[in-house]
Amino acid sequence: MSSFLLGHLSDPHLGPMPQPRLRELAGKRAIGYLNWRRKRHLVHRRDILEDIVADIHAQRPDHIAVTGDLVNIALPMEFTEARKWLESVGTPDDVSLVPGNHDAYVRGFRDHFPHAWAEYLRGDEDAPTIDFPYLRRRGPLALIGLSTAIPTAPFMATGRLGHRQREALAKLLQQTAEENLFRVLMIHHPPKTSPGRWAARLHDSDELLDVIARHGAELVLHGHDHRYATVWLDGPRGRIPAIGVPSASAAALGHNHPAAYNLFSVMREGDAWRCDHRVRGFSGNKLGEIKNERLI
Ligand SMILES: [Fe+2]
Ligand SMILES: [Fe+2]
Repeated sequence: MSSFLLGHLSDPHLGPMPQPRLRELAGKRAIGYLNWRRKRHLVHRRDILEDIVADIHAQRPDHIAVTGDLVNIALPMEFTEARKWLESVGTPDDVSLVPGNHDAYVRGFRDHFPHAWAEYLRGDEDAPTIDFPYLRRRGPLALIGLSTAIPTAPFMATGRLGHRQREALAKLLQQTAEENLFRVLMIHHPPKTSPGRWAARLHDSDELLDVIARHGAELVLHGHDHRYATVWLDGPRGRIPAIGVPSASAAALGHNHPAAYNLFSVMREGDAWRCDHRVRGFSGNKLGEIKNERLI
């Protein structure tokens, strides 16, 4: 039986940063801009990102999931650039996106990403308005996109789903379980907050874990921490893998995990699913296979 190949990359934090106007640099944006000029532009490199995208294309995935933080301080120019980059990754039909905290960096711009990236954020049957969670069916997969993107105070990078999204998620999980689909949740923040990441946590993580424990899912994909992560969540019928990935543009500097991406090969085996997980990324200056394991 043939398998479905899903690629996953995250947190490109696209550079170079466009030159902001002075009036665009109030409050949190000014801090973010200085941070970019001081340090982050050395970490997030466009040439690395291009190598990662070329490598993922060479694997010929059936679909690619992108889990947020496309931009840095949510300048209007950044959204336009990010749209062009998305088109270089694939068509809206072949690429599913969820936003990250940097995509809703400052109040007033939280509504920017749905306009610029609309076709990549829309469910199969959605009206023109963008509404989370969204559902896309691709092969044996139900791809469910959540938004944790909310503007926050300076030095905070938290996220929130909210009651309405969690309720809708529970219904979608139930519905797609009845359809026997392989349910993939795409979310920017890790569902379980990593140690030391309080200021970057998902506020309603406990409530989300509760929805997952009751309704299940086959796979959770996230970004945000810019690190490799495999965490097992409780489900109604056994454990569910939640997989994080380094930033797709990250150079190997200091404690950074260098750029990488995930590939999941999904197939039906009798009554059960089989999912093999490969990681490809940089080790030193070389891009190659980092890991190859059977996940479920
Ligand atoms: Fe990020
Ligand atoms: Fe983030």
